[in-house]
Amino acid sequence: MIFANRFFPATRLRRMRHDDFSRRLMRENVLTTNDLIYPVFVLEGDNREQAVNSMPGVTRQSLDKLLHTAEEAVKLGIPMLSLFPVIESGKDNSGAEAYNPDGLVPRTVRALKERFPELGVMTDGALDPYTIHGQDGILDASGYVLNDETTEVLVKQALCHAEAGADVFGPSDMMDGRIGAIREALEEEGFIHTKILAYSAKYASAFYGPFRDAVGSSANLGKADKYTYQMDPANLEEAIQEVAMDLEEGADMVMIKPGMPYLDVIRRVKDTFRVPTYAYQVSGEYAMLKAAFQNGWLNEEKCMMESLIAFKRAGADGILTYFALDAARLLRR
Ligand code: PBG
Repeated sequence: MIFANRFFPATRLRRMRHDDFSRRLMRENVLTTNDLIYPVFVLEGDNREQAVNSMPGVTRQSLDKLLHTAEEAVKLGIPMLSLFPVIESGKDNSGAEAYNPDGLVPRTVRALKERFPELGVMTDGALDPYTIHGQDGILDASGYVLNDETTEVLVKQALCHAEAGADVFGPSDMMDGRIGAIREALEEEGFIHTKILAYSAKYASAFYGPFRDAVGSSANLGKADKYTYQMDPANLEEAIQEVAMDLEEGADMVMIKPGMPYLDVIRRVKDTFRVPTYAYQVSGEYAMLKAAFQNGWLNEEKCMMESLIAFKRAGADGILTYFALDAARLLRR
């Protein structure tokens, strides 16, 4: 546009960006502590805390320590913890420890719910912490993870966790039909309020490496992979089919995992189904950010918050993130 022989842009988008008040007025997405789910690793015993080397700032904690962590999460207004067990003895290849009513997870859930009834407690549905081979299910002689046999064990695990008081069961195993089987069993046993957060679009990702160190399944897994049940990172349409299936079978919430490399999947899922949708910013994403922070290559607070708001912008209703406590502390300031 030309005015008095001078060029000027018809629209100056920078006008609204000029002042803090107008930037705030036009902000499209916000992150609050209500968006955060904190994954934690629980150990047997008392007064134990172990650093996870590949996840600086993350530890495995015995219950007494975990209760302090949970208390802090409650104080910060974090709605839910996601509990992962470190099974040091009792592993076998039947996964029976996964539904032991006196096992580490049910005991931890009971203690957490007793102390903090208002804190949501989510448990993980999968057999990898409990199996010697580190796969998420039961294997046949050739090493293939059996779908229906594994689902039967997952149903027992779900009932065991619901019995202990878990609010949300999160199957992260990727067996077909497991959401339907679990939902039916929960209904039959009267657990009508137990929610299912389905790891619906879970990719066969190399970004899970540090998590496998944390729960101690990586050594067991060795060079084996999970390609026959987790999704190909190249696929998007298949994720839509996975989510459709899990919703049809009775999932209350769905998840996309990993997070940051899969923001397009989150957006597609949210736009297609308009249901509560969650992202898992997984261990490898945390590790690579932390490594850069520790080297002074990235600004910790800014990059952490930018990585989290990206999930909101992509359409996620919440984020499972190892940054949950740090982010909540920052949001409090
Ligand atoms: C296993 C499980 C994994 C994660 C959560 N549950 C790893 C895997 O599938 O091998 C990964 C979480 C993370 O990397 O933070 N059922």
